[in-house]
Formats: sequence, C-alpha cells, structure tokens
Amino acid sequence: MELKFVLTAFVFISATVTTAEYIRPQPRRTLEFPWDPKPSSHPQQVHISLAGDSHMRVTWITDDESSPSVVEYGTSPGGYNCGAEGESTSYRYLFYRSGKIHHTVIGPLEHDTVYFYRCGRQGPEFEFKTPPAQFPITFAVAGDLGQTGWTKSTLDHIGQCKYDVHLLPGDLSYADYMQHRWDTFGELVQPLASARPWMVTQGNHEKESIPLIMDAFQSYNARWKMPFEESGSNSNLYYSFDVAGAHLIMLGSYADYDEYSDQYRWLKDDLSKVDRKKTPWLLVLLHVPWYNSNEAHQGEGDGMMAIMEPLVYAASVDLVLAGHVHAYERSIRVNNGKPDPCGAVYITIGDGGNKEGLAHKYKNPQPDWSVFREASFGHGELKIVNSTHAFWSWHRNDDDEPVRSDQLWITSLVSSGCVAEKSRELRKILMSP
Ligand SMILES: *[C@@H]1O[C@H](CO)[C@@H](O)[C@H](O)[C@H]1NC(C)=O
Repeated sequence: MELKFVLTAFVFISATVTTAEYIRPQPRRTLEFPWDPKPSSHPQQVHISLAGDSHMRVTWITDDESSPSVVEYGTSPGGYNCGAEGESTSYRYLFYRSGKIHHTVIGPLEHDTVYFYRCGRQGPEFEFKTPPAQFPITFAVAGDLGQTGWTKSTLDHIGQCKYDVHLLPGDLSYADYMQHRWDTFGELVQPLASARPWMVTQGNHEKESIPLIMDAFQSYNARWKMPFEESGSNSNLYYSFDVAGAHLIMLGSYADYDEYSDQYRWLKDDLSKVDRKKTPWLLVLLHVPWYNSNEAHQGEGDGMMAIMEPLVYAASVDLVLAGHVHAYERSIRVNNGKPDPCGAVYITIGDGGNKEGLAHKYKNPQPDWSVFREASFGHGELKIVNSTHAFWSWHRNDDDEPVRSDQLWITSLVSSGCVAEKSRELRKILMSP
C-alpha cells in the first residue's frame, strides 16, 4: 500500500518535472566586433544571391575605390578558367561613407556544383555550391537575424544543416541608422552567405529613412541587391525567382501594395507567368505576417492581407513565410481566416536572434487556424522532396541542430487538385484590369 503510494507520488513528481514550464531564454547582447584591418583592396562581406537562370550575383565591399568588380571562378581550387566583370556602387549616409560595393553576375553555372572564386583579383578564395536543377532542394529559413549572441547561435545551427538556399523574410542587420553595423553584419554572415545564395526581402529595420534627408532603404538596396531586374520588377523591394521546381515570390511589406501600385501589378504579371508543370511549388516570403496570434505587431499585416490574400489564394500559393514577430507560429491551410484545404500554410519565423528579444504574449484562445506557436529563437528548414511532398521542420537554438521541435509533411496544392480547380478563377483575376 505504502510502496504503491510512494511509486505513484514518484511518477507524479517526475511527470511534473518533465512537463515543467519551459524557461524562455533572455535576449543576448549585440556582438562586439574587434577591429580587423585588411588590405584595402581585399574583399569584405562577401555574399551571393541567385540572379536569373543558372547565374549567381557575387557581392562584396572593398575600402579601395580602384579595386575592380571582377570575379574569377572555376570548379577546382585556384583554377579560375572563367571570369566576369560587374558593376559597383556606394552611398553616403550623414557622415558615413560606404566602401565600394561590388555586384558581379557570373554564369552560366552548372547545377549542384561547387565553384571556387576570388573577388577583385585579391584576397582569399571562397567557394559556393549551386542549387540542384530538380528536387530535392532544401531551404534554410530565419528572419529577424540581427547580430547578437543568439544570431551567432542561429547561424551556427544553420551551418550544421545541409541546405541549398537561405531565405530571409526581412530584418537583417538591425543597424538602425548606425551604418557601420551593416558592415559588421556583412562580416558576421559571410561564412554562410558566401557559400550558399541568400535570398532576402526587406523588413522595417531596413528602412532607415530620415524625413527630408535620407530616403528609405538606401543601405539595404545598395548592399543587398536581389534579382528584381531579372524578374521584371522595377524595385529591389519585391522580386521572384525559380529554383529547382519552386517559384518563390519575395513581397515588400514596406512598398506600396494597393491595387494600383507597381507591386500589385507586378505580382499579377509574375503570377501569370508561373507554370506549375515547371514549378509545382509556389512560395511567398514577406516580412509582416498576415496570420499572427501573437500580441506583438497584432493587425499590422491586415492592410496588405486584405488586398493580396485573394490573389495569393487564387494562385494556390503553398506556403507563406513571414518574420517581424520574434517567435515561431504555424497555421493549418487557411484562407480569409478560415481553415481551407486550398489555402496556404502560413509560418512566422522571426526568431533569428535580434537584440529586441522574444515576443512572449499570445492572444487567447488560440485561433482555429493556429496549430503551433512558441517564443524561442530558432530557424526553419524546408525540404521539397518532389512535386507532391515537402517536409518542414523548426529547430530551436536551445536544442542540438538535428532536434525538430515542430515538423510537418506538406502536400502540394498541385497534387491535391486545388491548382486545377481554381485555374479559371485565377485567370479571371489576372485578366482583370
Ligand atoms: C514523393 O515523396 C513522398 C515522400 O517521400 C513519397 O511518399 C512519394 O511517393 C513521392 N512521390 C513521387 C511521385 O515520387
């Protein structure tokens, strides 16, 4: 009798212990970057991005203004049998003067191939791998990165996973007007961003406008040039690209989005060109989430959502990834606030490690559409296995990289018949003036 009681008590206590409230980590401090002088013609802050079919844009900065915007590359170390010359830019921001920012597009490149390259005929050799031509392809996803101890932890975790392309739904450096912080951010991400393409879209921390003095997005646009020209857009704030059977649309939460805006018109035009036979998967990234049950930034995405969700739904977008809220949340397939088997899965992944800390407070009760929400730092991985199946997982920084705190198989809207079912409706919307 007594033993039974003790045993029961023991079981009860251990159960209580294992389900004890998870202690949320505190924000970590902004990293210190010791001054690390390099020869002025040596490349700094090297990062790469996809630039149209089989091409890659290499971006780097030199202090030396006479340094050439030349990239030499090849498939063996030191064997640079190809080369290309690109363009350069620079900008001033109050008393700050940027270095020479080089953007050089190289290619055509082979798929799924390691290339070795050198920037400006100087300095160390870098290497990257191009994405595969077909499935499977893996994306690493982390928004709201910043440059704190948690950022470093997120980048370390991502560095341990096997992936092809990094997706960043806004808020990169948290420079917040301190322009040298863009430079330290560039150095911090270089080990990853020089090795795999980083495809980013803007967040509110990229704006940095000062009324009458500084236009918005000057530093961001100068430093993080994305393939907007290659995708028929007239702004670096929204663009699209194809990679291995997926079409990705990067929207601008801070560009005009009403029905008469350039962005809206571009989006319609872009959607009209999507061929789901060629790219069965359709993804959207943007900064401000449309589906968010966190108290933080509540309702901020409503305006854009009201205008663009009908289009995203009609186009059978499979997955929408957002940042902004410093936490993780995943929805079921949803449209217009209601569960819908032909709607997108919405994921907020603004938990990359910024200095502002986590967004802990959630609205209760949890809405029907919200199936998983947690305020922890982490990153996501999306492995598109084939035209019908993709595997999504979310990895907390507090765990070892292989631990998946949330995971889900997603079946494509092509395979569920939604794309075919809605094709006429989509055509009608796209044809309307
Ligand atoms: C796609 O991948 C899933 C998951 O691995 C598998 O079950 C399915 O059979 C695959 N489909 C095709 C057409 O290969």
